[in-house]
Amino acid sequence: MKELEERIKKDGRILGTDVLKVDSFLNHQIDPTLMKKMGEEFFNVFKEKNVTKIITVESSGIAPAVMTGLCFDKPVVFARKHKSLTLKNDLYTADVYSFTKQTSNKISISKNFLNSSDNVLIIDDFLANGQAVKGLAEIVESAGATIVGAGIVIEKSFQKGRSIVDEKGIKVHSLARIKAFENGQVIFEEE
Ligand code: G4P
Repeated sequence: MKELEERIKKDGRILGTDVLKVDSFLNHQIDPTLMKKMGEEFFNVFKEKNVTKIITVESSGIAPAVMTGLCFDKPVVFARKHKSLTLKNDLYTADVYSFTKQTSNKISISKNFLNSSDNVLIIDDFLANGQAVKGLAEIVESAGATIVGAGIVIEKSFQKGRSIVDEKGIKVHSLARIKAFENGQVIFEEE
């Protein structure tokens, strides 16, 4: 998605060797107009797949997931990373290890909001080490539901997430695919 690539070039900041800071438009301050276009793009890619539900993980996946859900006119469910006061039992859970933060989180979705007849589209902001998509896929499998694919806003294709998700046979569509960070520049994969 050209507009996203341009925005990353303009406002993204590279931190260290492998982290892209995009908090001015994606995961702290949010640009709703750009986010809406992302939802439309995911809709165009997956519209033939009879999607019944969009799932993501809190917190940064929620904005693109909601915009996508709006286009499909289907519910959006976000996996929680923390126990909710009102959400105690009847949960699907998976362990997600964060390489960035070096912590493991249990993510969970209520059994009320996912069932075996669902065709699920997974949405997330980053595909880095693939742990979030892997955990969400495990949850979908526990529910006996079907994964139709994964829509990712920014994929860092130099990290191992893409191969983990490919190995699971999940169709991935990433709006921007970063091949490398070189001399302070973001290098994108050719479309
Ligand atoms: P994964 O997202 O593929 O599972 O890989 P990883 O374990 O490396 O990511 C852990 C967290 O770091 C995730 O957020 C992910 O979105 C975020 N992340 C990974 N690479 C980048 C990056 O280059 N830039 C930014 N800004 N974030 C990155 P999270 O722990 O789920 O946090 P949240 O922001 O969704 O609450």
